Amino acid sequence: MASTVLTGIKPTGTPHLGNFVGAIKPALALAGTASNALYFVADFHALNAIHDAQKLQSLVHEVAATWLALGLDPEKVIFYRQSDVPEIFELSWILSCFTAKGLMNRAHAYKAAVAKNMESRAGASGAAGVEDSDDLDAGINMGLYGYPVLMAADILLFKTNVVPVGKDQVQHIEIARDIAQRFNAIYGPTLVLPEARISAETAVIPGLDGRKMSKSYDNTIALFLPPEKLRKTIFKYKTDSSPPSEPKDPNTSPLFHLYREFATPEEAEALRGRYQSGIGWGEAKEAVFDVLNRALEEPRRRYADLMANPARVDALLLEGAQRARALASPTLHEVRRAVGAR
Ligand code: TRP
Repeated sequence: MASTVLTGIKPTGTPHLGNFVGAIKPALALAGTASNALYFVADFHALNAIHDAQKLQSLVHEVAATWLALGLDPEKVIFYRQSDVPEIFELSWILSCFTAKGLMNRAHAYKAAVAKNMESRAGASGAAGVEDSDDLDAGINMGLYGYPVLMAADILLFKTNVVPVGKDQVQHIEIARDIAQRFNAIYGPTLVLPEARISAETAVIPGLDGRKMSKSYDNTIALFLPPEKLRKTIFKYKTDSSPPSEPKDPNTSPLFHLYREFATPEEAEALRGRYQSGIGWGEAKEAVFDVLNRALEEPRRRYADLMANPARVDALLLEGAQRARALASPTLHEVRRAVGAR
C-alpha cells in the first residue's frame, strides 16, 4: 500500500527519555512501515519564538543529531530542515488565502497566548478594564498566529496520509484537513486529507517524581548524560521507605515501568519476581541504570560524534531537502496551476 508518513520536530531544548519512548521510538517504527517517510526539523516554526541565530542553529543540530543517533536512517527516511525547502513557504502563502481568520482565532496556542495577556492585564490594571484588542495581542507575532497554516503546508505539500504526533497537535491536523477540504471544494480534488496517528498512552514514561516525564514538570532524564550522571539521576527517583525485604508491587512502580521499556521480556519477568520477593530500592535503581545505560551507550557515542561535526549534520539535512524538493515540486505545480498561476 502506498502511504506517506510525515512529521515535524520542533527544535526546542534537550530531548529527554520521555521524548524517546513516547515520540521518537514510535515514529521510527512507523517510518519502517510506510512507503514514503519524511521527517523534518521545523526550524521556521521555532522562529516565531527564537530570535537568536546561533541558538536556533545549535538547537537544530542537537535535535537532528538526536534522531540520527537513535536510529533514524537517512537512506530510508527523508530527513531535512524545513527552511531548506522553499516550496513549503510558497504553499503556506497560497493556503493562507483559503484559511478563515476565525479558524486561526480558535487555535489552541494562539488562544493560550491571548489568555495569558488577559490574565496579566487583569492583574496589572485592576480598575482600568477598558477593552483594547491590541493589548490582548501583545507579544504575539504573525508567525505564532499563522503557525497552523505553515504546518498545513508542511503536511499537504507531500500528500501525506499519516502524521504521527502527540495529542497536543491533533487540532493542527484537523486544521490542515479543513484547509485542504476548502481548497479541494473550489478547485477539485488536489490535496490529500491527512490523518493524525497518536502514539499509545502506554508509551508515557514516568518522570523522577512519578508523574509523566515532561519538561514542564522538571522531572526528566536527559538522553545523553554521561554514565555516572545518568546513574545519579536515576537514584533521584522518589521511592517510599519500605525496607528491602518487603515485597513490592511492580505495577505501581515507576522504576519498574522504566525498566520494562528497555529490558528484554525475560529480564522484566525476572525483576518482577525480585519485586515480589522483596527488593531494595537501591538494587532496583541499579537494575534500571544497567538496562538504560546498555541501550544508550551506542546512541550516546553517535550523538557525540555528530555534535562534534555539525557540518556533516548540515550536509545530511541538505541531501534530504533535495529529495524532499523533488517530491514537493509536482504538488506545488499542481496547486499553482489550479489557482491560476503558471
Ligand atoms: N507543531 C509541531 C510541534 O509543536 C511540529 C510540527 C511542525 C509538525 N510541522 C509539523 C508536526 C508537521 C507534524 C507535521 O511539535
